[in-house]
Amino acid sequence: MKSAPIPYGRQSISQQDIQAVVDVLSSDWLTRGPMVERFERTVADHCGTAHAVAVNSATSALHIACLAAGLGPGDILWTSPNTFVASANCGRYCGATVDFVDIDPRTYNMSVDRLEEKLEQAAREGRLPKVVIPVHFAGQSCDMNAIARLADRYGFTVIEDASHAIGGRYQGKPVGACHYSAMAVFSFHPVKIITTGEGGMVLTNSPELHERLVLLHSHGITRDPAHMVGAAHGPWYYEQIELGFNYRMTDIQAALGVSQMKRLEDFVERRQHLAKRYDDALRDLPLTLPWQHPDAYSAFHLYVIRLDLGRLGKGRREVFEALRAKGIQVNLHYIPVHTQPYYRALGFHDGDFPEAEQYYQEVITLPLYAGLSDIDQNRVIDAVREALQ
Ligand SMILES: Cc1ncc(COP(=O)(O)O)c(C=O)c1O
Repeated sequence: MKSAPIPYGRQSISQQDIQAVVDVLSSDWLTRGPMVERFERTVADHCGTAHAVAVNSATSALHIACLAAGLGPGDILWTSPNTFVASANCGRYCGATVDFVDIDPRTYNMSVDRLEEKLEQAAREGRLPKVVIPVHFAGQSCDMNAIARLADRYGFTVIEDASHAIGGRYQGKPVGACHYSAMAVFSFHPVKIITTGEGGMVLTNSPELHERLVLLHSHGITRDPAHMVGAAHGPWYYEQIELGFNYRMTDIQAALGVSQMKRLEDFVERRQHLAKRYDDALRDLPLTLPWQHPDAYSAFHLYVIRLDLGRLGKGRREVFEALRAKGIQVNLHYIPVHTQPYYRALGFHDGDFPEAEQYYQEVITLPLYAGLSDIDQNRVIDAVREALQ
């Protein structure tokens, strides 16, 4: 009998999760209600952050975070080329110019050295970014302390794209604490650490940013008389005081989120355990294993191997296809964003960010999710060993 394919990532849904969603379906609220507030409080408390705003995706979260930071036409946003397109697109939604900072060859996160060099040059040319979005690739935090020091020196706002990283830690503090940033964003897409189906969240310690995020995620409408331009006409009255969106999360999604948060630590421990098993089983092969910075405890959203193509004597595509043929649904993270046709049309070229481009030629993402059994992981390990022979 042929074994079932092993995906690269998938959600883990318990009976308790299902019951939590069913309970909401028979309650008074389906759209934003008490469960969304509870989910926001639960995540904020986990991170030790003052405020959280739940939205319908991390993409929406990044968009309103950029708007709350005041990003607009004529401004510049920098992010990593080794990310999902949403980390860059949020700048374009605001009419800003987007540029990238090449990656660190060990962590595959934005390189702090390249960032510093680029800032020095941008300062000379009067083209400093207003917003920088470091992406915690694969769940491992960027060097936030160093990035925050540069933010102080050059005056940009830091928004952490922590889509991969809920449950991870940096210098002992939960990712999302916003100790070194203005805002942090999580994704709750099903392949991520916890899920709400679709969903995202912005965290911040700033009451002013929180107020802006609340307005922006729901049409720019306020019901608070203190924020109104005119006098309330009556108890029905609300005012739209700026242009916002309908990015609200539903109570149905939030119920799943609250229930999943109870297992966050178990999920990350399991991912760490599986990552360690991969490390031990693949160490002798011609490849580079994920390197871990001592300041970071990764949530291990992804386990990326980097092939030593010189020693291997075969191409990455061959290895990728051999694994897929065995039902191992390997994936690839990421095609450098600046090489996407949309960004090429804005003036980016091959060779602009050589480290990210070299990395892209050599990597494969192996299956990793909390529900991956040791037996299925052994199948992946055997298939990788065979493919690299
Ligand atoms: C780094 C990163 N940022 C942003 C996003 C967008 O997340 P969402 O699908 O919740 O909009 C993703 C999703 O894959 C991501 O990996």
